[in-house]
Amino acid sequence: MKREQWKSQLGFLLAAVGSAIGLGNIWRFSYMAYSYGGGAFLIPYLVALLTAGIPLLILEFGIGHERIGSAPLAYAKIKKNWEWLGWWAVTFVMFGIVLYYVVIIAWCLNFFVLSFNLSWGDDPNSFFFKQFLSLSKSPSEIGEIRTPILFALIVIWFINWAIVYRGVQRGIELANKIFMPLLFVLTAVLVFWSLSLDGAAEGLKAYLTPDFSKIADPKVWIDAYSQIFFTLSLGFGIMIAYASYLPEKSDITKNSVFTAFINSGYSLFAGLAVFSVLGFMAKSEGKAISDVVSQSIGLAFVAYPKAVSMMPAGNIFGAIFFLCLVVAGISSSVSIIEAFSSAIIDKFGVRRKPFITMISVIGFLGSIIFTTQAGLLWLDIVDHFLTHYGLVVVGIAECILVGWFFRLDVLRRHINRISNIKLGLWWDILIKYFVPLVLGIILVGDLYNELKKPYGGYTWTSLILIGRDWILFTLIVAFVLASRPWKTEHIKKGGRSS
Ligand code: PHE
Repeated sequence: MKREQWKSQLGFLLAAVGSAIGLGNIWRFSYMAYSYGGGAFLIPYLVALLTAGIPLLILEFGIGHERIGSAPLAYAKIKKNWEWLGWWAVTFVMFGIVLYYVVIIAWCLNFFVLSFNLSWGDDPNSFFFKQFLSLSKSPSEIGEIRTPILFALIVIWFINWAIVYRGVQRGIELANKIFMPLLFVLTAVLVFWSLSLDGAAEGLKAYLTPDFSKIADPKVWIDAYSQIFFTLSLGFGIMIAYASYLPEKSDITKNSVFTAFINSGYSLFAGLAVFSVLGFMAKSEGKAISDVVSQSIGLAFVAYPKAVSMMPAGNIFGAIFFLCLVVAGISSSVSIIEAFSSAIIDKFGVRRKPFITMISVIGFLGSIIFTTQAGLLWLDIVDHFLTHYGLVVVGIAECILVGWFFRLDVLRRHINRISNIKLGLWWDILIKYFVPLVLGIILVGDLYNELKKPYGGYTWTSLILIGRDWILFTLIVAFVLASRPWKTEHIKKGGRSS
């Protein structure tokens, strides 16, 4: 069977950007910038982008393109007994991250609809936690499934299914060619609208005024590196799969640089809207910005609805905001499903359509746990463990595998042969020593904090049963998949340069 291919380089770029730009860009980046020194945060952020983000993105694009395969196939072609690593990456992203990521998109879809009548009322905080989520007190009190979330979840899985089902060109590429321009236009509307609100300038001041004293704290640097990894969808085998669909002649470095800068530029830009709105709210309520600001979920589902209710024509503003989150979210979840599916198709030669239908149903069933009353708590724990440990461990292993067991100079020459911007020895050094070192430091720092006190005030039992075991479960699945025999011929072929 011929490998699927992107129709155009632009289509590939938009798909990679679609994966990178997600929920994290809109609510995570701006809050981080605000609390970590405003404009000064751009220094650690840019350093992390240049020294780890882009080099690793080049590595993932390069490996996918040179070995012509999804993560397990590409890794197996480098060293047979490292195939499990590729499986682990795509398994924990498919059976971990995507299962709760789609539920957050489902909340956004609910809020999109609620926006039109500002149905959250006067107290968005109690609306979100009590009425909407009906949040239980501990992860073990699962309670019942929240039907509005379940219905939205069905819609979101259906859209994901419909896109990935149609394949690389007619599904993923086409969807991103519509989604990305739409997202940029909607975001621009939000930004210009919010800049015109009374108090916007105060908000922007809080967002961007540099405070250089903050960036002396090592934690800021660690978080900047983690944010770069997460935001560029690195370590999950996603970018490897996407690059494996590139034609022979493709500029790897240029695509990496573009993807990285569009993604970060988008974060920075969207942050303008987030903070202008907070400035507006502070001014209307006669409070300081620090009293109205909140992070992640609180920002999107509590602070924003509140501000929207106070704004003229706020219901339209709210609807556009939540629509942006839905669009940004779906273009990311699609990339996760594709990373896993392309791995299964590469190894077992199954047909795309029936497989995508099956995996979407399994995925939907798996996400139901996150629609229960304990959903937010489960989501928080699983997210903490997967993004802190799973992601970092896979990243380190990836650098070691490719940097030390594969001739990195072969890969570099392959990339240089087809790319305009040429890589030098510095790239090898970053991949072989620097990136694994930085990730190692993050890992040790995280572990240290983890053992000091249980994360997020949960009991050790729930952290172990939900968080640790989720990681172990995905690892076992990875080993099982890696131990099965290859049903296709792909593994026998080398890469493009051997
Ligand atoms: N990059 C996405 C974001 O910033 C997150 C993501 C993680 C997407 C993993 C795909 C896979 O939200």
